[in-house]
Amino acid sequence: MDVLVFGGLGQVGEAIVATATECGHEPESIVQLGRADVDITDSAAVAAALEQHEPRVAINCAVFQPVDLCESEPEAAFRVNAQAAGGLAQACRRAAARLVHISTDYVFGGARRKPYNEDHLPAPLSIYATSKLAGEHLVLAASPTHMVVRTSGVYGTAREGHGTMPFIERMLERALAKMGTQVVTDQVISPTNAEDLARGIWGLLGCGGTGVFHVANRGELSWFQVAEFVFEKAGTRRFLAPTTVAEYGAPAPRPAYTALDNKRLRRLGLPDLPPTREALQRYFATRHPDLKPVE
Ligand SMILES: NC(=O)c1ccc[n+]([C@@H]2O[C@H](COP(=O)([O-])OP(=O)(O)OC[C@H]3O[C@@H](n4cnc5c(N)ncnc54)[C@H](OP(=O)(O)O)[C@@H]3O)[C@@H](O)[C@H]2O)c1
Repeated sequence: MDVLVFGGLGQVGEAIVATATECGHEPESIVQLGRADVDITDSAAVAAALEQHEPRVAINCAVFQPVDLCESEPEAAFRVNAQAAGGLAQACRRAAARLVHISTDYVFGGARRKPYNEDHLPAPLSIYATSKLAGEHLVLAASPTHMVVRTSGVYGTAREGHGTMPFIERMLERALAKMGTQVVTDQVISPTNAEDLARGIWGLLGCGGTGVFHVANRGELSWFQVAEFVFEKAGTRRFLAPTTVAEYGAPAPRPAYTALDNKRLRRLGLPDLPPTREALQRYFATRHPDLKPVE
C-alpha cells in the first residue's frame, strides 16, 4: 500500500510512519509531505503530488489551528480545514486514491455526559469546529470510499520545526520550570496518544472502513486531570491550580464534554484503543524515560 501523507510532518504524520512496521507496512512506501512540499490550498500542487506518487491511500493531517486563532482568522480556517480538504478529496477520487481525513471531537456540542459515538449529531461551537465539520462533509461527499477519522486531545512528536507542541509538552515545560499554572476542570476529552491513533488508522485501512470513525484512547479526563498527571510526573503538583472555562475566558467557545466512543471501530472487529492513563504512561516512558520529580 503506497501512502501519501499531507501535512505529514506534524505529530499524526510522524506517528503514521513510526507505527508502520508493526502494523505490517513498509515505512519506505509512505511519503510525508510537509506544508513546504505541498500546501493543500494549492490545488495544482496537490494534483501534481498525486500524479507523481500515484498512492492508493492519502492521509490528510493538515490543519489550520490553534482553535483560538480560528476565531480571528475564520477565512483561513475555512480555506484549509474545509475548502482545501474538499479539494483534496476530489483530487484523490480522480486519482483513484482513498482519502483518510483527520477530524476532531470538537465537532460535538458537549451537552452529553457519556462518550459520543459516530451516530451522535455534531453541533460545533467554534469557528475551528465548524470549519472541521464542513471539511468532513466535503470529504465524504467527494467519494464513498473516503474516511473521516475523529480524534481528541492528540499528543505525539512532530518533526522538529513542524506541527504544534501538544498540551502535555507545554504543561511539562511549565511544571519543570515551576511556573504557576491554571487549567480548566470543566472540559472533558479523551486525550489520545498519536501512535495509538495511527494504529487505529492502519487497522481501518486494512479492513476497508469508509465513512466516519472515532479513534481515541478509551475513557475521559478533564484538561486539568491531564495537567495533573504531568505535574505529578515532574514532582511539582503544588504549582498547578484548577480553574473554570468561565474564569479562564479563552476567545473560542469549547464544548464541555467530548469524550469519544470508538463504536464503529469495535463493530469492525478491530481492537479498541488502550485506556487514556495507560497511553499517557507509555508516552512518558518512551518520550521522557529519564524524567524524575524535581522536588
Ligand atoms: N491536536 C489535537 O489535540 C487534535 C485533537 C483532535 C483532532 N485533531 C486533528 O488532528 C489532525 C492533526 O492535528 P495535529 O494537532 O496533530 O497537527 P500538527 O502536529 O500541528 O500537524 C499539522 C500539520 O499540518 C501542516 N499544515 C498546516 N497548514 C497546511 C497547509 N495549508 N498545507 C499543508 N500542510 C499544512 C503543518 O505543517 P507545518 O508544520 O509545516 O506548519 C503541520 O505539520 C488535524 O486534522 C486536527 O484537526 C487534533
